[in-house]
Amino acid sequence: MAGSEPVSAEGESMAVDAAPRKPRILLAASGSVAAVKFANLCHCFSEWADVRAVSSSGSLHFIDRASMPKDVILYTDEDEWSSWKKLGDSVLHIELRKWADIMVIAPLSANTLGKVSSVNDMCSYPSFGIQFSLLEGCVTIYLHVLFEPGTTASHSLLHQP
Ligand SMILES: Cc1cc2nc3c(=O)[nH]c(=O)nc-3n(C[C@H](O)[C@H](O)[C@H](O)COP(=O)(O)O)c2cc1C
Repeated sequence: MAGSEPVSAEGESMAVDAAPRKPRILLAASGSVAAVKFANLCHCFSEWADVRAVSSSGSLHFIDRASMPKDVILYTDEDEWSSWKKLGDSVLHIELRKWADIMVIAPLSANTLGKVSSVNDMCSYPSFGIQFSLLEGCVTIYLHVLFEPGTTASHSLLHQP
């Protein structure tokens, strides 16, 4: 509508021409039994967000890949290494970090919790001799990560319908 655009004090148009887009969510599952609900969770998030999924090796025992939404790519540790061969190749966990606005880990296993809770130390992981998965590699470079604990004491995801 003419005259409705915001203008600066000097009378110049301040309209931002970036088209609105859906939030981009990197949804990750670790090896809690609650990962049986991961495909459902991906469907729910996909209703309002662009979703890409990451699974730890442990979570693959629980995730029903056939039930995943068709438009959600599920990345595994194998993809991290098959997409990188030499210096200069893109690194999957870095590309995913560039793509996503936020990372959500649901469910979060006790094992992954133990590793990611020392995230500052993870940033210097070569000196720790700990092997990090694609999921944990993503956590090292995210500023905003949400967790849904999938441990015996807290299985809220598992008890969702
Ligand atoms: C049947 C089964 C159920 C499990 N459920 C859980 C669980 O609910 N929460 C949890 O923290 N670990 C659970 N574990 C153990 C994890 O799968 C195991 O620690 C695994 O190494 C986690 O790997 P990740 O953190 O890399 O995904 C379960 C293991 C099995 C075999």
